[in-house]
Amino acid sequence: LLQIFFLPPSISCELLTSRQGFHNLSVFPSDFLFGTASSAYQYEGAYLSDGKGLNNWDVYSHKPGNKIIDGSTAEIAVDHYHRYLEDIDLMHSLGVNSYRFSISWARILPKGRFGEINEAGIEFYNNLIDALLVKGIQPFVTLTHIDLPQELEDRYRSWLSPKSQADFAYFADICFKSFGDRVKYWVTFNEPDYQVELGYRTGKFPPSRCSRPYGNCSYGDSEVEPFIAAHNIILAHIAAVHIYRTKYQESQGGSIGIVLHCDWFEPISNSIADKLAAERAHAFTINWFLEPIIFGRYPPEMQNILGSALPEFSTTEKQRLNKGLDFIGINHYTGYYVQDCMFSACEPGPGTSKTEGFWAQSSQNNGIPIGEPTELVWLNVYPQGMEKIVTYLKEKYHNIPMIVTENGYGDKNTVDSTTEEPIQDVKRAEYMAAYLDALATAIRKGANVKGYFAWSLLDNFEWNSGFTVKFGLHHVDHKTLTRRPKLSATWYKVFLSEHSKVK
Ligand code: NOJ
Repeated sequence: LLQIFFLPPSISCELLTSRQGFHNLSVFPSDFLFGTASSAYQYEGAYLSDGKGLNNWDVYSHKPGNKIIDGSTAEIAVDHYHRYLEDIDLMHSLGVNSYRFSISWARILPKGRFGEINEAGIEFYNNLIDALLVKGIQPFVTLTHIDLPQELEDRYRSWLSPKSQADFAYFADICFKSFGDRVKYWVTFNEPDYQVELGYRTGKFPPSRCSRPYGNCSYGDSEVEPFIAAHNIILAHIAAVHIYRTKYQESQGGSIGIVLHCDWFEPISNSIADKLAAERAHAFTINWFLEPIIFGRYPPEMQNILGSALPEFSTTEKQRLNKGLDFIGINHYTGYYVQDCMFSACEPGPGTSKTEGFWAQSSQNNGIPIGEPTELVWLNVYPQGMEKIVTYLKEKYHNIPMIVTENGYGDKNTVDSTTEEPIQDVKRAEYMAAYLDALATAIRKGANVKGYFAWSLLDNFEWNSGFTVKFGLHHVDHKTLTRRPKLSATWYKVFLSEHSKVK
């Protein structure tokens, strides 16, 4: 009753009274992690405060000619650095039991391993972690969410150099040592599959390198760069996992995984060629990282297409790679149909042409959208994709624990800040309800899923879309930095409160 009492009158709405998304509540165990997710660059701001060094996104976002469409930077972002206590109060009022955030590498190590540790950076994360724990919210920490100290880029082009593995291992060790007494969930990388594609194939993210035939590259690069960068990231992951397992895991008792950008790829027909094409699409994205980390080798689909262009792992590396994670982090938002263009004639769309290099032959990325379109070109609402991707990973990787580390709905809604009217983001609430329902179905059928994080607590800096695209359960006014709940925040709050009553 109390819950209903606090709902603004206009949103004691159908969505809540129809209890959409609530009939599966008992499927989620009582210790299931429910939270919201964020990342340092997208949230913190304070880009030069208290000794923080410049990172690759600071430099890129200030460079003329970058691809950020509204010309914004994340100098202030949503000022989480100064407002984290207020944000934790918002989380607490939602009723979440976990918060996924990332550490700004350049805040801890302004010059990477070539300089001192910034104690003020350590203190910030200590304060954040302690404040979360006081409210009963488990910190769920991503070591790096796309950003890295610019120093590493300037010295040896970061991920293109094997030296980057030692950089990451050094940083990870400092984090485990400083925070691991209280942090029980670690993620090494966020969506390296996507990061590598945007940074080294299409040139849309720093370091803005691209492979032919994507024009407008700042360098004349080679098609193998994405595979080299990915190889170094995989080895950096495993170096950090090795440190955690040998030095910290037993005493600290946590677990460590990696997060992938997990779109669902659906064959456009029942033909074997299209089914193989969909499998190639998964191989060139998720399995590119998971097969080496779990099985110690690249996916056969990649080996067949790339041959010697794919870097190799040494025997020692292979041994370390085997079962090199404790859980798979799934960022899932949308899905695509995949049509074979490798063996059959097809109308080449973006990402499906045979002439687009190695990826082309996998005939995948940004294929034909499935489901209901949204205001964002890449985001279609296809809740069944949640059940399908979780089930696919369950079967392929022997039901290793999985955590949905991101799921959310983006729009371009501009909000009238002169009124106090509730923000009616009905579509976001419906999206969450439907995707959680699909997740519950996968769990009921046996998928070993341990958590779900909504992206995101607040509207924030959406990379090249700047502040034009919003994923928040709360609106942020960028002039005043005031946070204001949307209907989706109320929906999540009621969902979580009902869940807490089930067991
Ligand atoms: C996944 C990324 O991890 C996050 O940084 C981004 O904001 C969301 N997707 C939404 O695009």
